[in-house]
Amino acid sequence: MPLVNTTEMFKKAYEGGYAIGAFNVNNMEIVQGITEAAKEVNAPLILQVSAGARKYAKHTYLMKLIEAALIETDLPIAVHLDHGDSFELCKSCIDGGFTSVMIDGSHLPFEENIALTKKVVDYAHERGITVEGELGRLAGIEDAVNVSEEDAAFTRPDEVEEFVSRTGVDSLAIAIGTSHGAYKSGRKDPKTGEVLPPALAMERIHQIHERMPNCHMVMHGSSSVPKELVDIINQYGGKMPGTFGIPLEQIQDGIRHGVRKINVDTDSRLAITGAIRKVFAESPEKFDPRDYLKPAREAAYKVYVERMQAFGQAGHAGDYKPITLADAKKFYK
Ligand code: G3H
Ligand code: 13P
Ligand code: ZN
Repeated sequence: MPLVNTTEMFKKAYEGGYAIGAFNVNNMEIVQGITEAAKEVNAPLILQVSAGARKYAKHTYLMKLIEAALIETDLPIAVHLDHGDSFELCKSCIDGGFTSVMIDGSHLPFEENIALTKKVVDYAHERGITVEGELGRLAGIEDAVNVSEEDAAFTRPDEVEEFVSRTGVDSLAIAIGTSHGAYKSGRKDPKTGEVLPPALAMERIHQIHERMPNCHMVMHGSSSVPKELVDIINQYGGKMPGTFGIPLEQIQDGIRHGVRKINVDTDSRLAITGAIRKVFAESPEKFDPRDYLKPAREAAYKVYVERMQAFGQAGHAGDYKPITLADAKKFYK
């Protein structure tokens, strides 16, 4: 099966009330961990590549690894640029075989974000490639943040319709208080100093869904940062105090209200790091990379299986006959 864009995936996910996990890939073990997990649970896949991953592993290596994943699994797989920050980067990824790109103009004023996003959409759709835009900035909610500051940073439901219709984006990353990495809280109990769970503006997702039921929303910064994974890291010499992630129940609430793509990177990083630390601590004589990369891949695999089940994409690989990019071009025309 050739690579697919995300059109059919999101359509079926919308109809089936589930979401697709989009997992970041940086090397062979990660690609294998994700694709073996997807094969196990029969799930469609979005493999996403950041600018940093492309710099680290190189475009061609990543594409060839993903090609191998297609051959090994025969699952519907989209390869997506995560947080593209310029037209040139998006163009380079599209020209190099990606089937979906994100243009992140969230740091720009509204009109400039629209102009940049539309430029990418025009180039992408002519080639059958899907585009994710972003409105609102990702951040943690500080206790001190007042309502007007929150309104400036978070996605404003009243702007979504205009942004989507003027740009033509296929999906929209929204900002509701999630942030990247393992420290998502930014809030402490003023009395005890205890780190509190991140406070997410879930009502913004509900409002957007009410206004635009067909808008496919994307939740970034959606790792759950499970305590048991952080504990393994800390048990074997790591130092990661005060971590906090997004509870799966909140993500599932988002899925019930129009979220169709969930970005997860940190959780697999934690699993991989813990597994490697454990081998180093317990078997300091070992020096064959396979001795620690194999358990690392297995630990990541477990995370992917759990997430695919929790997001509902498990069992849905065969929901549709994916359209080719040639058909996708016709669709956009
Ligand atoms: O957007 C955040 C992802 O976790 C990618 O991170 O830029 O370090 O590859 P990265
Ligand atoms: P996490 O850091 O929560 O895994 O988020 C990843 C992400 O949003 C990639 O775009
Ligand atoms: Zn992100």
